[in-house]
Amino acid sequence: MTAKITAPGIVARKGGDKIRMVTAYDAPSARIADRAGADIILVGDSVGNVVLGRGDTLSVTVDDMVHHTAAVMTAAPTALVVGDMPWLSYHTSVEEAVHNAGRIVRLGGAGAVKLEGGRKRIPMIRGILDAEIPVMGHLGLTPQSVNAMGGYKVQGRTAALAHELISDAVALADAGVFSIVLEGVPDVLAEHITREVLVPTIGIGAGPACDGQVLVFHDVLGLHDGHLAKFVRQYAHLADTATAALQAFFADIQSGAFPSEDESYHMPAESAQILKDFTASADHLMADEMMER
Ligand code: KIV
Repeated sequence: MTAKITAPGIVARKGGDKIRMVTAYDAPSARIADRAGADIILVGDSVGNVVLGRGDTLSVTVDDMVHHTAAVMTAAPTALVVGDMPWLSYHTSVEEAVHNAGRIVRLGGAGAVKLEGGRKRIPMIRGILDAEIPVMGHLGLTPQSVNAMGGYKVQGRTAALAHELISDAVALADAGVFSIVLEGVPDVLAEHITREVLVPTIGIGAGPACDGQVLVFHDVLGLHDGHLAKFVRQYAHLADTATAALQAFFADIQSGAFPSEDESYHMPAESAQILKDFTASADHLMADEMMER
């Protein structure tokens, strides 16, 4: 068995082999991701949109994250499991942030947590790191800021805004995060940040220069038919495959082709005969009784 990947192990990958990261929200998806060679499995708060059918990530709670992280942990023997800190779980105070990160680690079993935002999050990041919990940063298009950003928009498109993001990335790395997700930023900016910081960058809609890439499990596998962002590449169309499989199952139920002999349990022939004789005599008794009435 391959050794469990750790946060320090991810830092050591800076500039080396590209880091492979994907989301997962339950045991079957985690098992597939781990078996396929994921270095990091992110239990993203995207669980809100992707699995719980909500419009955004804002309603996701720490309890939701603990629940899904614990499921993923049962099936990820190798990948580092990172639990997302949901909106408002790290915004109000350092104490709240440490308490909530601790729940995701203690009850969910995550090896690290991820949180969104730049310099204004540094006190919370420091507090969580002081509790010996590795932290992954997340900059650029941060979905928890959807209302503040006025929608899901590419960030850092002007030189001034790009400069702000570079300063945020440098501050996060200096504070001690073990990696930074760069989401929805221009490729040249991601390239610049990747050169500037000593920890790996992991891109999603951030071009090819990052030290690693991440996508949402359901997007990569074509497990849903909603809107797909420009940066998504689908490697399969499992929703179509699954629909066709279920249609075939339902057709077999209808025709009686399912279940077959092989898919049914059987009795020893002797017991089957006794049961047959018994039901036949019971049928006779019932018929006699009906006649008498
Ligand atoms: O929640 C999530 O899935 C994420 C990734 C898109 C990075 O934060």
